[in-house]
Amino acid sequence: TTNRTFTMIKPDAVANGHIGAILDQISKAGFKFVAFKYTALTPEKAGEFYAVHSERPFYKDLVSFMSSGPIVAAILEKDNAIEDFRKLIGATDPAKADAGTIRNLFAKSIDANAVHGSDSDENAQIEGNFFFSAFERF
Ligand code: CMP
Repeated sequence: TTNRTFTMIKPDAVANGHIGAILDQISKAGFKFVAFKYTALTPEKAGEFYAVHSERPFYKDLVSFMSSGPIVAAILEKDNAIEDFRKLIGATDPAKADAGTIRNLFAKSIDANAVHGSDSDENAQIEGNFFFSAFERF
């Protein structure tokens, strides 16, 4: 099944007041909300979430940035969710993101890039499970 993905609105986009605009774009693109919360990652939790990147040179900055303020976490549903959501948000580096994508509009740098989107079905499940119990999904 490729009908679900996981997203976070990252601390930069929350701090800059873009929660509403980003949720509006997500809804208008046809995604339904399966699960949703306003929360924050401690450095320990961020380190765990991004463990797959622990050997990368940007890991430390990533963990520190992702625990720097509140985030929105959500599970989204739509046909072809993973691929369509990645198109909606644009390239990881906002300088390379197509015009009109969420990162083109709201991101400032490769770390402060406004939103996360799962890169595979398997990761969408792992990431959704990290934040949400069965009772929090609708
Ligand atoms: P995301 O896809 O949410 O998860 C990994 C994050 O690492 C990515 O978004 C970027 O914000 C961040 N990052 C920083 N530097 C790099 C890089 N060189 N390549 C990929 N991701 C990077």
